[in-house]
Amino acid sequence: MLPDRVRIVEVGPRDGLQNELTPISTEGKLQFVRKLVAAGLTQIEVTSFVNPKRVPQLADASELITELPSAENVTFSALVPNEKGLDRAIESGINRIAIFTAASETFTQKNIGMSIDESIATFAPIAKRAIDAGMSVRGYVSTCFVCPYEREISKDRVRDVTAKLFDLGVDEVAISDTIGAAVPTDVLETVSFVLEKLPVERIALHFHDTYGTALANVVAGLELGVTTFDASAGGLGGCPFAPGAAGNLATEDLVYLLDRMKIQTGLAGQPGVDLGKVIEAASVVARVLNRQLPSAQWRRLQADFAADEV
Ligand code: HMG
Ligand code: MG
Repeated sequence: MLPDRVRIVEVGPRDGLQNELTPISTEGKLQFVRKLVAAGLTQIEVTSFVNPKRVPQLADASELITELPSAENVTFSALVPNEKGLDRAIESGINRIAIFTAASETFTQKNIGMSIDESIATFAPIAKRAIDAGMSVRGYVSTCFVCPYEREISKDRVRDVTAKLFDLGVDEVAISDTIGAAVPTDVLETVSFVLEKLPVERIALHFHDTYGTALANVVAGLELGVTTFDASAGGLGGCPFAPGAAGNLATEDLVYLLDRMKIQTGLAGQPGVDLGKVIEAASVVARVLNRQLPSAQWRRLQADFAADEV
């Protein structure tokens, strides 16, 4: 039995853009976000309040959030790594943040300059202050399957770190394949182990697609009853501190799969995410970056255009 409805968390404006060196204007990002909203995406991670020297592309986080469209039923969120990031997030008026750690010690050090335990200790007062300020909080656990530095990651570590994030008050944890190296058997093994102790409705899966296994991993997640999946329009993305990380699972490829499997992607009573409009959103970024995008749907369209021109 597969779920009959899933929730897509669009991470294109944050994960999709954070690794891009070509500067994208705030207005360009806003156009991207407006089109994602028009496509029917209701959870959109728009930026990060990290150290702008480490992720210059997202240095305009505050300005971007001030200009976001007001859209019914749409929740925008942003990554927060420390107290300073939370100060900026509160000031911006955003009402959902995401805190992030990992299941690999080395990756955690490279990404946020802390051990895993230090990251939990750092995020405890941040999550509390955010919740007291009326915000909701998501958590990420990176490198849940394979780490670029430590290779294989134990499922015990993944479950332990995930549980610690829940103890901080997060409402959802994204189990993440940062370098896109996982295959369905990894997902079945690690995620089912997590689900023995933690509630499936609070687990999201965040796949990158370096080896082309992200959609297969989604199917493994669906088989386990997971109903929240992260994706990035166009298939852009990658973490600057994880060598070898390619783009995220493309939103349009996920929507194609779910549509064909007759799994709903909209809120109850609402239309689902519109595949064509997701591609329109992605094309805003493709124009600015002046290059083709990695998603299968994008390649299919280019092939159709080329055939029309013959
Ligand atoms: P740090 O650089 O070690 O901080 O940051 P510091 O305390 O030494 O401060 C250095 C300077 O940065 C100071 O300024 C601070 O004020 C400033 P200066 O005195 O030199 O002028 N600073 C800040 N400014 C604005 N906002 C802030 C902030 N913090 C410090 N929040 C920190 C530590 C954790 C912030 C840093 O290491 C950092 O920003 N890391 C970025 C990590 C990141 O963005 N990674 C990518 C996202 S995670 C990801 O992609 C994985 C995910 O997609 C899931 C998956 O796929 O696995 C979520
Ligand atoms: Mg990611």
